[in-house]
Amino acid sequence: MIGRNGKNPQAEGRIPLPQASREDGLGPDPAIVVAEGICKSYPSIRALSPLSFNILPGEKVALVGPSGSGKTTLLYLLAGILQPDEGVLSIDGRPMTSVRPGRELSQLVGLVHQQYDLVPHLSVLHNVLAGRLGQWGLLRSVISLVWPRDRQMAEEALAQMGIGDKVNERTSHLSGGELQRVAIARLMMQSSRIILADEPVSSLDPARAEGLLGLLTDLVRGSDGNDGKTLIASMHSPYLIRKYFSRVIGLREGVLQFDMPSSEMTDEVSDRLYDLEQPEPALWGVGN
Ligand SMILES: Nc1ncnc2c1ncn2[C@@H]1O[C@H](COP(=O)(O)OP(=O)(O)OP(=O)(O)O)[C@@H](O)[C@H]1O
Ligand SMILES: [Mg+2]
Repeated sequence: MIGRNGKNPQAEGRIPLPQASREDGLGPDPAIVVAEGICKSYPSIRALSPLSFNILPGEKVALVGPSGSGKTTLLYLLAGILQPDEGVLSIDGRPMTSVRPGRELSQLVGLVHQQYDLVPHLSVLHNVLAGRLGQWGLLRSVISLVWPRDRQMAEEALAQMGIGDKVNERTSHLSGGELQRVAIARLMMQSSRIILADEPVSSLDPARAEGLLGLLTDLVRGSDGNDGKTLIASMHSPYLIRKYFSRVIGLREGVLQFDMPSSEMTDEVSDRLYDLEQPEPALWGVGN
């Protein structure tokens, strides 16, 4: 490497700072996600206004905001499904534009879609195994449809999600809550460093929602205690956010409203974000 003065700094005994280093001289930037002024518009609407934030490895970040506030759009940018119109989004020190789709991208980020994105006419097993597709070549992927590879791993993931008995079931026969669990089992197979989940508990009853978030946060923590992943999920319940997340980012009409520790996510903050009118006390008595 050649230094600014044309000399090789390593030969001079000086090691050049890596590009992702912080300006404060504390070494490499520890953030796993760095968003610098990213924004996104669709033909008829600006879904996200310029947005900047850093996320550290192991953080559990909830995205909140009313319908249409840009949560899914932001998750799609983080997943590499969409590209920002402006700004730079870096994951693990690399601009997303330099991450190759396929294996490289799937090792970095995995997404559970709002609508799960499962193939209804395939078995549960094949849908879960699809989590490995990013790491397999085409031939291996096609062969897996006939002779499922990594079957044991998939069965274990389904058992961990409490639906081990559904492994050979046709996916279209499952309930909404079961589909959500299959989608998370598929994510477990992908073993990516950042887990993105779009409203992962939206179709679950309160007890199952807590069960699923417990499993998701266990998955993020890593079984050996040092394989910490990062979780970014769109959520609505302030109670669940306080209990299972460390940080919360609030959006409204694509504009950042707050970015704070989840412990500060009170019901009042949530009501203000969602613009919920407090009902007039008199209205409650009408007709009673
Ligand atoms: N593919 C698209 N084409 C055009 N407009 C879109 C598209 N996707 C999203 N939008 C619009 O962008 C805005 C943000 O949508 P987005 O899906 O990100 O919101 P959201 O916060 O996830 O909402 P919800 O809570 O309803 O899922 C909305 O006004 C939406 O109608
Ligand atoms: Mg959405």
